[in-house]
Amino acid sequence: QTLESRTLESVAKFINDGKSKRIVVMTGAGISTSAGIPDFRSPDTGLYANLARLDLPYAEAVFDISYFRNNPLPFYALAQELYPGKYRPTITHSFIRLLYQKGMLLKLFTQNIDCLEREAGVPGDMIVEAHGSFARQSCIECHTAYPDDLMHKAIHEKEVPHCLQKGCGGLVKPEIVFFGEQLPEEFFRNRTLPAMADLCIIMGTSLSVHPFAILPQYCEEGVPRLLINQEQVGTLGSRSDDVLLLGDCDSGVRKLAEACGWLEELEQLWEE
Ligand code: OAD
Repeated sequence: QTLESRTLESVAKFINDGKSKRIVVMTGAGISTSAGIPDFRSPDTGLYANLARLDLPYAEAVFDISYFRNNPLPFYALAQELYPGKYRPTITHSFIRLLYQKGMLLKLFTQNIDCLEREAGVPGDMIVEAHGSFARQSCIECHTAYPDDLMHKAIHEKEVPHCLQKGCGGLVKPEIVFFGEQLPEEFFRNRTLPAMADLCIIMGTSLSVHPFAILPQYCEEGVPRLLINQEQVGTLGSRSDDVLLLGDCDSGVRKLAEACGWLEELEQLWEE
């Protein structure tokens, strides 16, 4: 066993002893709920529990490429709510930036499309946006890029944008990864990086969507894996160096920062 005990204090000691210089962080929608963005699968508050108004055959259809091809309206009815720009990063986002500033962040793998990690100051080249983002959009038929300003307008007017190429007219979709679509090449290029980590922190994800869900398994045995989440997920807890910090992630990262002696620094970074 690498950690003295399976506690937060042991993880903090491991960090303070200089044993973690290559931290891999994996995140999901749960790190943005306190910013006001709903997650997907929480029973009452999650997006999938609140889509009745869209009259979908099943909730995940709103992000399913085959369904979108036939009926893009539900997605565009929702897109405005998810579109980046109106939310402020949480202290959990700032904690990832703090790890970066301390030179300890090897990579952040996020499933989120809200761009809040960037907004919190984590540089783009430290982030693998495994499920894409709203940063670009293109035609689902001919893949021609579609202009940002027109997309912005379409989202806010809840209109379905179509490709501008002569003779195409295909549907335009933000380059977020839908069910039935391949993850970005960037994900596959980086996905074995967790094997080089000396500490892994997983926060705010149900780990229910593959292939993202298997990332924690790439961590070597003996490498501590810390889960900060409302509930236990995946196989976390099954290894002797897994530490589970169950509860909300903002309080979790505050506790970790405090145990590391970084709390004031973290609060300041978040206030900025
Ligand atoms: P989920 O909604 O599946 O899971 C969110 C997790 O965060 C759950 O385990 C919650 O209990 C937990 N959680 C929520 N709020 C929290 C808080 N304040 N503090 C701590 N934990 C909290 O979201 P993801 O795992 O991100 O994909 O979902 C993965 C993918 O499924 C998404 O990227 C999206 C979705 O379909 C696509 O759209 C392609």
